[in-house]
Amino acid sequence: TKFTSDRLLLFGATGDLSRRMLLPSLCALDAEGLLDPCIEIVGTARSEMSDLEFRNFARESLEQFLPANRRGGMATFLNRLTYQHLDANDLDGFTALAEKVGTPRHGLSIFLSTAPSLFEPTIRGLQQSGLAGENVRIGLEKPLGVDLASSKVINDAVAAAFPEDRIFRIDHYLGKETVQNLLALRFANLMFEPLWNAAHIDHVQITVAETVGLESRVGYYDDSGALRDMVQNHMLQLLALVAMEPPVSYEATTVRDEKVKVLRSLRAVSTDETVTGQYRAGAIGGQAVPGYDEELGKDSKTETFVAIKAHIDNWRWQGVPFYMRTGKRLPKRTTEVVVQFRNVPHSIFSGRGAKTVPNRLVISLQPDENITLSLMAKTPGLDREGFGLRSIPLAISMPDAFAGPQRRIAYERLWLDLIEGDQTLFVRRDEVEAQWEWIDAIRAVWDEQEQEPKTYTAGSWGPSAAIALAERDGKTWHE
Ligand code: BG6
Repeated sequence: TKFTSDRLLLFGATGDLSRRMLLPSLCALDAEGLLDPCIEIVGTARSEMSDLEFRNFARESLEQFLPANRRGGMATFLNRLTYQHLDANDLDGFTALAEKVGTPRHGLSIFLSTAPSLFEPTIRGLQQSGLAGENVRIGLEKPLGVDLASSKVINDAVAAAFPEDRIFRIDHYLGKETVQNLLALRFANLMFEPLWNAAHIDHVQITVAETVGLESRVGYYDDSGALRDMVQNHMLQLLALVAMEPPVSYEATTVRDEKVKVLRSLRAVSTDETVTGQYRAGAIGGQAVPGYDEELGKDSKTETFVAIKAHIDNWRWQGVPFYMRTGKRLPKRTTEVVVQFRNVPHSIFSGRGAKTVPNRLVISLQPDENITLSLMAKTPGLDREGFGLRSIPLAISMPDAFAGPQRRIAYERLWLDLIEGDQTLFVRRDEVEAQWEWIDAIRAVWDEQEQEPKTYTAGSWGPSAAIALAERDGKTWHE
């Protein structure tokens, strides 16, 4: 469906995501002239607020979360904002909202950043107030349910009002430039793809480590836990991008067709293939931090760390484990994909006492984007009998290679694609459902085993069992 949007409607406009990401990214796009010059943005949430108060709220958010050198167009941007308070369960409220939104010249993009329990009534309200017409697209922020069944309920409710080609399910990792670069690395270079399979790759590691704890998300996080908060979406999307077959073209349908094939090939994990943890008081970067239960103010069985050994049952990946781990209060913030190649089939140097170390490709996605390939090299010298070999890094720092362009907020890409109708970086219904199916099976195993998270000290790499998960197979987590 081709149309761009000159009206935006943001649900959850006074929320945390709006403050940190959604408003700043819109302002940045506007400052660069990437939005319709006549764009009007309506924010809505439950609290009563005047337009002016909302603009003040937005100004404070921008000052806090958008770098000063990107705030050039702030005054113009703030003038585009208006606000309408709304109780999602009150139908009359939607009539007032529709009036506030008015009639777009081209189209309307709606962004739902609310609790999933509000999705259904909101969609109903939109439909009944005429805000779900043919020139309307809808973006849905996670969490899209808490399991397969609840995600189906949400998906059905949305599908009743919008066709799939106007539904944009957000996984903000896909909006990250560095994540898209995974595709460039794999499919715009000749040298990786022929080796990208079980014959040449020993295993893959995906780590998403965070130093933050619960932050201010007490209610949400404790009901969710690391598996649903991070693995169900971001980590499985990363896995899918790393493991998928080459799509025929870089287009929404072809890319998502390939991703969903991977997600459907995930083998149900067995009992000894997952480790969960919950942090206790410790220190990160010399700073003392409290334990999860202290932050929460009560005991909890929610996992703040999870490590999984996953398998993809298809031809390409048979026998190649994908080790994934993610957690809060780990020693550093890092997201990386490690591709561990196999050793050379035969070393001509072994007679000279030299060992070859298998090549390893490390793709760091955050905080900095670096690509490092470990290569074997001869150690310099006139060794008469031996032959020295050492693994050395061939390293690319993306910020150095592309000096100039600044790091963007992932939502800048996503807003733009929503407004212009490009679904490539959004998650299709069958993907989300395949993701949930695999996650639900893991949780069923935990429930059956009455598995409780092991403790780990804040600032460590999780419970020792997570280290053992890899070491038992003779592998080591990359650090
Ligand atoms: C969110 C999770 O989806 O992603 C948070 O709900 C997490 O718990 C965040 O902190 C991480 O995103 P990023 O972009 O900082 O890696």
